[in-house]
Amino acid sequence: MEGLEKKAMSTKAIHGGEHIIREMGHHGSPLFQTSTYSFKKVEDGAAAFQAVAHAKETLDLAPHIYARLSHDNARIFEEKMALLEGGERAIAYNSGMAAISGVVMGLLGAGDHIIANPSLYGGTHGFLHHTIKKFNIETTSVFLDDEKAFESAIKENTKLVYIETPANPTLELTDIAKVVKIAHKHDLLVVVDNTFMSPMLQSPLKLGADIVLHSCTKYIGGHGDVVAGVVISSKKIMEDIRPDTIEYGAYIPPFSAWLLQRGLKTLSLRMERHCQNGMKVAEFLENHPKVDRVWYPGLKSFPQHELAKKQMNGFGGMISFLVKGNLDSAKTFLNSLELFTLAVSLGATDSLAQSPALMTHAPIPREDRLAAGIKDELIRLSIGVEDADDIIADLEKALSKI
Ligand SMILES: Cc1ncc(COP(=O)(O)O)c(C=O)c1O
Repeated sequence: MEGLEKKAMSTKAIHGGEHIIREMGHHGSPLFQTSTYSFKKVEDGAAAFQAVAHAKETLDLAPHIYARLSHDNARIFEEKMALLEGGERAIAYNSGMAAISGVVMGLLGAGDHIIANPSLYGGTHGFLHHTIKKFNIETTSVFLDDEKAFESAIKENTKLVYIETPANPTLELTDIAKVVKIAHKHDLLVVVDNTFMSPMLQSPLKLGADIVLHSCTKYIGGHGDVVAGVVISSKKIMEDIRPDTIEYGAYIPPFSAWLLQRGLKTLSLRMERHCQNGMKVAEFLENHPKVDRVWYPGLKSFPQHELAKKQMNGFGGMISFLVKGNLDSAKTFLNSLELFTLAVSLGATDSLAQSPALMTHAPIPREDRLAAGIKDELIRLSIGVEDADDIIADLEKALSKI
């Protein structure tokens, strides 16, 4: 459709990439569940291989040969994501971690250096600080909002700055535009993990970042039934990333891409409800006598509330809070929930609850965990799209058991 880039986000999410299936005469997208593609004549096969070999920069537009290289389910999804994030190209991956490693392994080599915020998803932290050390790529942790500390961490071999905002599980924010200004002065690329916000609530590329990525396992898939990732950037940057992604075998399979293009069609509706419910639940918790402290970017008491208003188009569905008491109080609370699902991950239609100390952040030594603000009594909630009163009633009942 002409001029789709000027339309609203909900329209982009629904109509983006759909021309691919309209041209085939379909309304809903078929699932192209095939591993390989057939040719009428060997000359056609040869031409397809030539096109792929000579079209590094437009591999995403070359004919399909084999589903690890390209397929229409991924193309539809990638076109929607590029439109939504305001980038030129998107590449879909078989997990969020594959997207993160795809960016790092595609753009960096032995001897390069990364600067990253200390608050990161555990898997990302492990990848940046341990896995890539084996390939002689080093990562320095620094609070990027501290301009002096950030600038003094920049070395001759620094190539990339990695941000996750809001961060997991403290919801700490990083000022993307401020980081970009310093990073670009030193010719560094800025990568933003936008998982907690989805493209509906934050647009890192419009704030100057070079690359944005998501774990699509969360809000983009939205139903807790797919593990996937995506990277969006300029055509030029994607030229460097895509060939390695294909070689590593990190490309998304058809069914995952099919689920994601379907999930995207309701993303704006879901995010609206996640935000409304998030605000109501955060206000309820903040006023509850059994709750010590609540972190939600939409609350006036949130330390970076002004930055949240400036940088985000909504405050999302993620809340962290401290129950009064100790680890046993947190356990009692979690075991008393009925509507909430006790599970890690986030961004599903149903509300999820977990204890970072006992679950996601359990491998971190207790002292380090406490230093990072992850106390024993901390609870992380992913607020779903159920009725807000039902969610609050479940929390109220569980808090009464402490
Ligand atoms: C912020 C963030 N980024 C990346 C990931 C990794 O994504 P995946 O589990 O899809 O590999 C996660 C997973 O929880 C996450 O929360």
